[in-house]
Amino acid sequence: MSESFLPLSVPVLGGHEWDYVKDCLDSGWVSSAGSYVERFEERLCALIGAPHAVALVNGTAGLHMALLAAGVRPGDRVVMPTLTFIATANAVRHAGAEPVFVDCDEFMNIDVDGVRSFLTEACEPGPDGPRERSSGAPVRAVLPVHVYGRPADLAALAPLAAEHGLALVEDATEALGSRWTGGPCAGHAVGTVGHGSVFSFNGNKIATCGGGGAYVTSDDAAAARVRHLTTQAKTDTRRFVHDETGWNYRLTNVAAAIGVAQLEQLAGFIAAKRACHELYAELLADVPGVDLLGFQEGTSSNCWFHSVLVDGAVFGRDREELMTILAEQGIETRPVWGLLHEQAPLRDCTAWRVERAGWFWRRVLNLPCSSDVGPHDVARVVAAIHAAGRTV
Ligand SMILES: Cc1ncc(COP(=O)(O)O)c(C=O)c1O
Repeated sequence: MSESFLPLSVPVLGGHEWDYVKDCLDSGWVSSAGSYVERFEERLCALIGAPHAVALVNGTAGLHMALLAAGVRPGDRVVMPTLTFIATANAVRHAGAEPVFVDCDEFMNIDVDGVRSFLTEACEPGPDGPRERSSGAPVRAVLPVHVYGRPADLAALAPLAAEHGLALVEDATEALGSRWTGGPCAGHAVGTVGHGSVFSFNGNKIATCGGGGAYVTSDDAAAARVRHLTTQAKTDTRRFVHDETGWNYRLTNVAAAIGVAQLEQLAGFIAAKRACHELYAELLADVPGVDLLGFQEGTSSNCWFHSVLVDGAVFGRDREELMTILAEQGIETRPVWGLLHEQAPLRDCTAWRVERAGWFWRRVLNLPCSSDVGPHDVARVVAAIHAAGRTV
């Protein structure tokens, strides 16, 4: 019997999702003013140890709001990695600002040395912080991404941002449940170090609402501002009075109901993903040229994605060939994102000394990683990889 299709990353909806959605529908509270939205925010705060969470329609909207709340204004520059999903840069553009792209480190996260050299070599002091010398534009914020769940090096980045007067906004969309276990950030969950942070609850994330996002902060005023802006900036809940241009960005109660059920299962999802990562590591250990990317010391990742680096010269097949061979056997894998500074809408942005990101772009292959991927699936994937290499 042939094996079934093994997807890259699909939700696991085995908790109270049905009950909570039914409860929503039975109650008639289906849009944003329902109790599940509040429960979702409270549960998220409790899970990561944050004072405020604002549930939003998706992570992209959350990043847009996080940048506005951090003081980013039209024409500003925001320093961010080139190796991320395009939504991160789109949010910068939605805020009217321009991204400045920097390289990645050996864990695919933002290269802090690159941020430092940009600030010290390509910027000069301005009246309200650094200015990019080539454009004269103020550099207002730095936007690290915790890529695939690995905590970025905020122990180094946070003091650098503070030294230069930049806001630190975390794109934590992929990293719910990740944390630091050593160094100055020890004890902090991802999403609680920056001025504001954003999680995504898209269908492929470790916990989903179908689609959804959340803005998280410890700043009372920033939380209130994001709540205000995302509910059409109304100043009176009964009469239609508004004090600025707002957005309709709040999460619905139905989506939040799914989210609450998912958050209840988060610890189990992380444990399952960690076990899966460990098994991939064990079984891939004797496949030359296909190396599972590890973790930075002092961090605990939610293990959202399992990425291997394919060295074609050693393995005998390059990443593209391996992806095709696995697809023929019903195993879905995906490369890492195309580098943002090479994407059509972003080619005119500053790209500061990008070198290592291209290396990852050529080699990364993400293996099936849903929370219900079990030992049999991992063995199947690794056997298929093994066989692909041997046929050369
Ligand atoms: C790194 C990164 N940033 C931003 C987003 C945007 O989140 P959403 O799809 O919820 O808008 C995603 C996920 O899709 C992401 O992976």
